[in-house]
Formats: sequence, structure tokens, C-alpha cells
Amino acid sequence: MLDLIVIGAGPGGYVAAIRAAQLGLSVACIEREPALGGTCLRVGCIPSKAMLESSERFHATAHDLNRFGVKVGNVELDLAAMHKHKDTCVNAGTRGVDGLFKKNKVTRYEGTAAFTGPGAIRVQGKDNVELSAKHILIATGSKPAQLRGVEMDGELIGDSTTALGYREVPGHLVVIGAGVIGLELGSVWLRLGAKVTVLEYMDHILPGLDEEISKEALKVFKKQGFAFHLGAKVTGASPARKGGGVTVHAEGLEDIKCDRVLVATGRWANTEGLGLENIGLKTNQRGQIEVDEHYQTAVPGVYAIGDVIPGPMLAHKAEEEGIACVERIATGVGHVNYNAIPGIVYTHPEIAGVGKTEQELKAAGIEYNVGRFNFIANGRARALGETAGWVKILADKRTDRVLGAHIIGARAGDLIAEVAVAIEFGASAEDIARSCHAHPTLAECVKEAALGVAGRTIHM
Ligand code: NAI
Repeated sequence: MLDLIVIGAGPGGYVAAIRAAQLGLSVACIEREPALGGTCLRVGCIPSKAMLESSERFHATAHDLNRFGVKVGNVELDLAAMHKHKDTCVNAGTRGVDGLFKKNKVTRYEGTAAFTGPGAIRVQGKDNVELSAKHILIATGSKPAQLRGVEMDGELIGDSTTALGYREVPGHLVVIGAGVIGLELGSVWLRLGAKVTVLEYMDHILPGLDEEISKEALKVFKKQGFAFHLGAKVTGASPARKGGGVTVHAEGLEDIKCDRVLVATGRWANTEGLGLENIGLKTNQRGQIEVDEHYQTAVPGVYAIGDVIPGPMLAHKAEEEGIACVERIATGVGHVNYNAIPGIVYTHPEIAGVGKTEQELKAAGIEYNVGRFNFIANGRARALGETAGWVKILADKRTDRVLGAHIIGARAGDLIAEVAVAIEFGASAEDIARSCHAHPTLAECVKEAALGVAGRTIHM
């Protein structure tokens, strides 16, 4: 009997398996896909970042190098080479996880796992085995949500995986949903020359974000050439009757004709085929597995983490949960500070946030001070030609403790790490402000915003 079986080798599952093995547990990890790494490595975070980087370079070379004194001739797109770069990134990552499993002595099984009873798992696929363990961790992630009336054919109408692999730039791409996936992948194809129309049900984009940032992002994306229809509920999409392409129907809008449709209306927990009924484990109304603060499900010895449980669907959140869960199993302690989990949108400029938003603080009746610094006042940002956006730090009015930070601007995703650490350490805005930040760096924008909390900004 094993100490631990992990079902799913995404960032939540494989990290948990490695950590458990480091702690001396005997661990097996079951994954149905031949490549390890889950959605994130195979068809999510990593390939999308490769395409975002390539498309940004293409766009900058074609439209933006002149102002830096670089003249370029005819800029051409080699989409096949872009896909090759993406595949290289993916393969390096998935093979890397294989290597880490070997190094840490995690036994890998390739196949679909299902519970046959308490502590018992059957693997079917390339490997066919019956396994048993004291502890079983479900880390099966999520899949794209289906939208009623919109049948995905994986070709003209598809999800994020389809949109990562288009072999030609669509003439007109309609994106359903102005969430993270819609705007990141919409950015890729917009930069490569597609007309991109985004249809969003809500009256704002990027739900859950700091409202001020969401409004600014909408302005910036419109300027880049995105067309938005907010308050547009898509009710159907089907291949056009004549002339090819797709017709999209949305309440209150005339039908839209386009070449391809990306459905990006959220994701749904992956529990199908897991045999949860064989251990008496039920999912909630949203199809997720409910857990307690130690990731224990209603069934003793069965745990769940990541996209399959409630909470934001983020690779790094799943990783933290995986580590906390197995550390608790092995040592008795393990904890995740959900207030210090950053969220990042990898558009241009990037958008990042951690801790509380202004609307959350207002709703909770917490008084706070705001420190702000605009990228345009930072020397490095000007040299980079990246002057759009700002850093905003929110600190408790009474104690100066950092409660949240929200950044729209160059490298926001890297800059937010400092504030996440500050929140984790219970730091004050003054702690950040008094820490030396190298000059000239974008990180000075964070320091200046922290200075701004006490009205002491120097360069603005
Ligand atoms: P999302 O939940 O972020 O956004 C979906 C959007 O679709 C919402 O704004 C919603 O109002 C809209 N919508 C739903 N039904 C609609 C309809 N019938 N018509 C028009 N609009 C409709 O979901 P998304 O972008 O698909 O991402 C899925 C998950 O993956 C999210 O939890 C996201 O956080 C995560 N993710 C995170 C990334 C990152 O951290 N950079 C990157 C990609 C995904």
C-alpha cells in the first residue's frame, strides 16, 4: 500500500507529488495524458505565454521599432515557426516534470484513474493496474465550460486549445467572454493581424479585477483595436448558411459574421469518470469537490486541490494548495494564505493584483490610504517605451499594513511578487517605501507608490 496517490499531473498534482516524496512518502501520480504538466504546461499558461511573446515581438517589430531608431524592412509572419517555438517551450516543460518525477522517485502511471472503493484506485489506459493508498489526492483540474447554443467543433468554433493552434490568422475572430483567456488569446491574434470582436455578458471586462484597473484596461484594449460589445449575452453560434465562416447570435445585437469563434466563458471542474460515486463523494452545484481548510473532502483520506475545488483557477494557487495538503499529511501542518495569491493577466500592458481590491475594502468598511505612481514618471519605463499604466498600493489607514496592490503596466506580473511577499510578511507600506530599490528599474514604481501612501512620493 502506498502512502499517497495523486490523480492528475498538472501544476497542483505534480508539485504535490514531488513535495510528498521529498517528505519521505511513497507516492504514485496517475495522469491520462502522455505528457505531464496538465492544462497549464500543455495547453494553457505556457503555450499561451509563448504565443503572447512571439506575437508581441512581431507587432513591435512591424509597428514600434522606428521610435527606438531601428528601421526595419518588410516584416513577415512565419506562423509555423511561432508554433514551433511554442511547442519547444511546452516540450521542455513536460519533459522537465518527467525528470523531476524520476529524481524524486515519484512513480508515474499513464491512464485514467477511478475510485473502486475507499483507498482503492483502478488505472486504465497505457498502464492497467489496481493501486491502494492511505491518502488519495484529487488534482484533476478543469476543462472549458460549454455554452448553451454554441456547439464547439474544435475548428471554426473552439476553446482556448483550438485558438492556440490556428494555422492561419483568422480574418475576423469573435471572442465570447472578456475574461483572462479571451483577452490573452484575443491579443495574440489581434497582434498578428486579425480583427477581434469581444462579446461580454457583463457591463465590464475582466470580472473580479479592481474596478479602476478594469476601466483603464478597457480603454487601452480599445485603442489597440479590439472591438467590444459589453452587456452582450451570446445565445448561439453556428456555421454560416452560405459563404463559410460562423454566425454569432447575441441578445440585443445584430448577428455577427466571422471566421472563427473562441469560447472563453469560464472553466468547469474535471470529475467525470473518477468513480466518486464508489466512495460516496458528491460534487456541489458547480460540479466542484468541497473540502475543509486542510483539503480533506467529506470522505476521510481523500483530498482535493486546484481547479477541481472552489476558488480562483490559477496554477500557482493549485501548487500552494498541493504543498499545504501533503505537508499537513506528512507533518501535521500546512497552510495557504489566500490573501497573498496574485492574479495576473498577460496582456499588453500586463495587469496584476494581490490582496484586496478597493471595492472589497469599501464593502468590508475598512478604511485605507491609497498610494499611486504612474509608469510615465519612471526613467526606466520611458527608456523601454512602456509609459502606460500605474501602480496602486492600498494600506490600512490606521496601521499602514499593506492590504492590496493593483498594477497595470509593463512587467506588472513580475512587479506584483514584491507586494505578495510584503502581504505574506504583514509588512506596512512604509516597509516597502524604506527598502532600497535599484535605479533605474520598474520596481521603483512600486517603491514610489508605497511612498505615496503617506503622501511622500518623490518623482511625481
Ligand atoms: P473568466 O471567468 O475569467 O471569464 C469568462 C467571461 O465570460 C466572464 O466575463 C463572463 O461574464 C463571460 N460570459 C459568460 N457567459 C457569457 C455569454 N453567454 N455571453 C457573453 N459572455 C459570457 O473565464 P476564462 O477567461 O474562460 O478563464 C477560465 C479560468 O482560467 C479563469 O478562472 C481564469 O482565471 C483562468 N485563467 C487564468 C489565466 C491567468 O492567470 N493569466 C490565464 C487563463 C485562464
